Amino acid sequence: MLNNIRDEKGNFKNLINGEWVQSIGGNFIHIKSPLDDSFLGSVPAMTKEEVDVAVKTAKEAQKRWRDTAIYERAEILYRAADIILENEAELSYLMMMEIAKDRKSCRSEVSRTSDFIRFTADTAKNLSGESIPGGSFPGFKNNKVSIVKREPLGVVLAISPFNYPVNLAASKIAPALMAGNSVVFKPATQGSLCGLYLAKIFEAAGTPAGILNTVTGKGSEIGDYITTHKGIDFINFTGSTEIGKRISEITSMVPLLMELGGKDAAIVLKDADLDLAASNIVAGGYSYSGQRCTAVKRILVVNEVADKLIEKIKEKMKKLTVGNPLEKDVDVVPLINSKAADFVWQLIEEAEEKGAKLIVGGKREGNLIYPTLFDRVTTEMRLAWEEPFGPVLPIIRVNDVDEAIEIANKSEYGLQGAVFTENINDAFYIADKLEVGTVQVNNKTERGPDHFPFLGVKSSGMGTQGVRYSIEAMTRHKATVINLSSNK
Ligand code: NAP
Ligand code: G3P
Repeated sequence: MLNNIRDEKGNFKNLINGEWVQSIGGNFIHIKSPLDDSFLGSVPAMTKEEVDVAVKTAKEAQKRWRDTAIYERAEILYRAADIILENEAELSYLMMMEIAKDRKSCRSEVSRTSDFIRFTADTAKNLSGESIPGGSFPGFKNNKVSIVKREPLGVVLAISPFNYPVNLAASKIAPALMAGNSVVFKPATQGSLCGLYLAKIFEAAGTPAGILNTVTGKGSEIGDYITTHKGIDFINFTGSTEIGKRISEITSMVPLLMELGGKDAAIVLKDADLDLAASNIVAGGYSYSGQRCTAVKRILVVNEVADKLIEKIKEKMKKLTVGNPLEKDVDVVPLINSKAADFVWQLIEEAEEKGAKLIVGGKREGNLIYPTLFDRVTTEMRLAWEEPFGPVLPIIRVNDVDEAIEIANKSEYGLQGAVFTENINDAFYIADKLEVGTVQVNNKTERGPDHFPFLGVKSSGMGTQGVRYSIEAMTRHKATVINLSSNK
């Protein structure tokens, strides 16, 4: 599929107005695999002029798309969902090479994306508006009726991160399209080959010219230009809190939907099923080397059961497989780049220096950091508060439920939290108090299933995603008030 979108020199093109166009600027970014440093391809570092064309095209095309029957939009999405599955092997392999994700997770991301797109089409077909009688408000009669429907916003700018280059792109594009918007899609640079592949799938599925356009280039170079572009009507961003905050500072009067960083806590109480808690903590903390926004990123355990929990976590960590997914099936893979690995390593070193007790791991080979567990982490250590986006978990021992809640809520982040307990009253008490978008009771923190609402509070985001929620977020209400001359 990718060979169809390269120029004669093998460089990738971008999808603009229904055509795969060659770079005008002639500057390219070379994408290499974090697994073996092999060259995967070059994508254009698009110029401002090229960005202008992408946005202008999207603006024009959206005027027609908004009038396209929802049923017809859905048919295109169903085809896209099918084509994704037809190309599952190739796309999963590309993803593994481009972002160093293990094979199993790549395959499940691809099939999950197909399901997401299909579900989005189904949901959008079944959304409807409402009519509100005026007579329910004091002083008014029923001769006044407000017919409320939802309208698209216009051009949606979709910016995705490296870690889910297919799913977190499609989960922006599909709801935007079903809502009648056009899309300018800027993938993460490391992940842009997967992004272009996805765009090719949407094109092959019959997305009309101009409805989906791609922009490649480094966020540090074109990010400010595109996010403040006058032609953009809505920004759906997933990525770091740092960049999310920057976007919210420099944009003006453009609605934002943001999924940002997290420091999800797993709170383990004295009556918890410790096997269940340990399994979920290990799976939630170390899969894809912790490079998930919803990864478990700290453990708050009450003193009474801390030793037992640690023993169980240690046992389960022994089963984690570590290494290069090119060579074998592994759970823990090399991090995306050396900057990320250096950052995680700094957190590990600082925790050790400040007296945290290393239980497992603490070993590094290049960008591969072995799954690491620290006990006796205190609130003086960076590891207690910062998002490593790597395979290291701090255990913070607490005296009771309220201390766990207090530490959990002191974080600048508020994505999700998990509580492990057999006591439904404690579960609800904690769920009620945690300042997060979602609380998982007796499960690891995680986004899916993807039709559930997904949101972060504080520095973890703004707005709510999830199939129906995303469609709604990318529409606005439009009220037409009918005033009848009589009310017999
Ligand atoms: P990132 O560095 O913030 O990049 C995210 C996206 O923003 C990329 O497409 C990047 O492009 C682009 N970008 C960079 N600078 C920009 C700017 N000034 N203006 C506009 N766009 C800009 O994040 P990442 O390293 O890819 O992903 C990891 C982070 O994402 C973690 O903090 C993680 O928690 C968060 N995340 C959150 C969720 C969630 O649902 N809450 C999900 C996944 C990830 P380039 O690649 O070209 O720099
Ligand atoms: O970090 C990306 C976010 O979408 C997480 O999804 O399924 O890994 O919880 P999941």
